[in-house]
Order: sequence, then structure tokens, then C-alpha cells
Amino acid sequence: MKTMEHAAERQGLRDKLRTLAAITAATSSLLACSNAAEATPPTTFTTATATEAPVPIPTPELPVPAPTRAVDCMVQRCIALTFDDGPGIYTEQLLDMLQERDAKATFFVVGTEAEGFVPTIQRTHSEGHQIGTHSWSHKLLTRMSAADAAADTERTNKLVFDITGKMPTIMRPPYGGTNQAIIDEIAMPEILWSIDPQDWKYKSSHYVANHIINHAHRGAIVLMHDIHGTTVDAVPEVVDTLLAQGYTLVTIDELLGKNLPPDTYRQQDI
Ligand code: NI
Repeated sequence: MKTMEHAAERQGLRDKLRTLAAITAATSSLLACSNAAEATPPTTFTTATATEAPVPIPTPELPVPAPTRAVDCMVQRCIALTFDDGPGIYTEQLLDMLQERDAKATFFVVGTEAEGFVPTIQRTHSEGHQIGTHSWSHKLLTRMSAADAAADTERTNKLVFDITGKMPTIMRPPYGGTNQAIIDEIAMPEILWSIDPQDWKYKSSHYVANHIINHAHRGAIVLMHDIHGTTVDAVPEVVDTLLAQGYTLVTIDELLGKNLPPDTYRQQDI
């Protein structure tokens, strides 16, 4: 009887131990799961039912860039028209004129202006024009520390990237003011010019068009400002005349090539 009682007791104890072992195993398995969940967050976490699609994170709508053209400025007679200080209220009109003539240009935009013309900048990019940086607020960079000049440029670069999906690869310092410390610190090619009609001073479409046409040369970089209506009104005559003279109107990348080392550039070296 005593033996039987002991046997029953032992059996009961074994059962209890088995249950305890099962509970311990289940608990540690649960703990392991929760630790794993903490270490590697699920990529798609949702409390929605299986039939409900996860809500996508909204991404900004970026313009589709124009396809690359087959232009060779080592063979063709190229000129790069460049427009500073915008975008402005005349920029869309200018884009229409360039589009009608299949002419490409480069726009050196100012950060404070760009903020108010996001669709215009997107259109500029998607129609195959190049966008460069012309500082954040058009201050003379040589009056800042090189580090501040670089931060100012970077702020505009970042804004253009956010708007177009493409980081500018060229810049133009306001007033053409630069020095070696700024070139080294900003570390971007600085695009100056070889033809300057001083369109900010001569508010005459006729004068601006004549100056550019009379000084036109192969490999030229022309400085203009699309914030002046008189300048934009001069563009059809400039473009039509230059095209008739056999020039191809190109972007800075097309004229000078991509991946230029940090330095100043005024025209194409032919
Ligand atoms: Ni300027």
C-alpha cells in the first residue's frame, strides 16, 4: 500500500514537473519572440485586417527629367544662354519661347525665389533645361566666411533637389564674386560668362538682343536675368538669329561637359 502510494505520489510529481517544464518553455519562447520583435521592427507594421492594404507613405511628386540629347559641342557651334536671379513672373513665358524653338538654357536660381515658384522649377527641369544654384538670398559670397558661403549654396542645392529630384552640379556666385577659398569650400564648378549685355541696366529688348547677337561666338556663355520682362522679350530675336547663324543653344553640361573640377569657367575651351 505504502509502495503504491509512493508510486502514485511520484507519478503526480512527474506530471507537475512536466507541466512546469512546458510552462517554462512557453514563457521563454514568448520572451524570445518579444525580444526579437524589439530588435528587428517589422517592415510593414499594421493593425489593420489582412484584407486592408497598408497606407503608403506620401512621397513628393517629382518631375520626369527630359531625355538626354545627342549634342556634341566639340563639333557643333554651341552657345549657352543662362538666366540668373529667378524664377520670376516672366519665367513661364521664357520657357514657352524656348520650347517653341527647341532651345535649351541654364537657370541659376536664387533659393528665396525658388520657394515661390515650385511648379516653374519642375517644368524647367522636365523640359531639359539645367538648373544651377545662385545662392540662397543673393548676397555677395566674398563678404561671408567660406564656410557660410558653402552653407548658403548647400541650402539652395537642397531645395532644388527637393523640388526636382536632381542635385545641382554647377553654381554661379552672385555678382560673379568669388575667391579661391570659396571655390575650395563650395567645391562646385562656378560658371561665369563671356557675354554680358547688362540687361539689369539696359531695360531695352532691342539693346539686349543686339548686344548678344553682335558679341556671339562659339562656346560663349551669355549672362541674362529672367526677372526682367525686357530681357525675356529679347529672347525670341536672340534665339532665332543664333539658330539662323548655325548655333545650337545648349545647357552648361552640354557646353562644358559634366563632372567639371571646382574652378571658375567663362566659356568653352575649344
Ligand atoms: Ni544674380
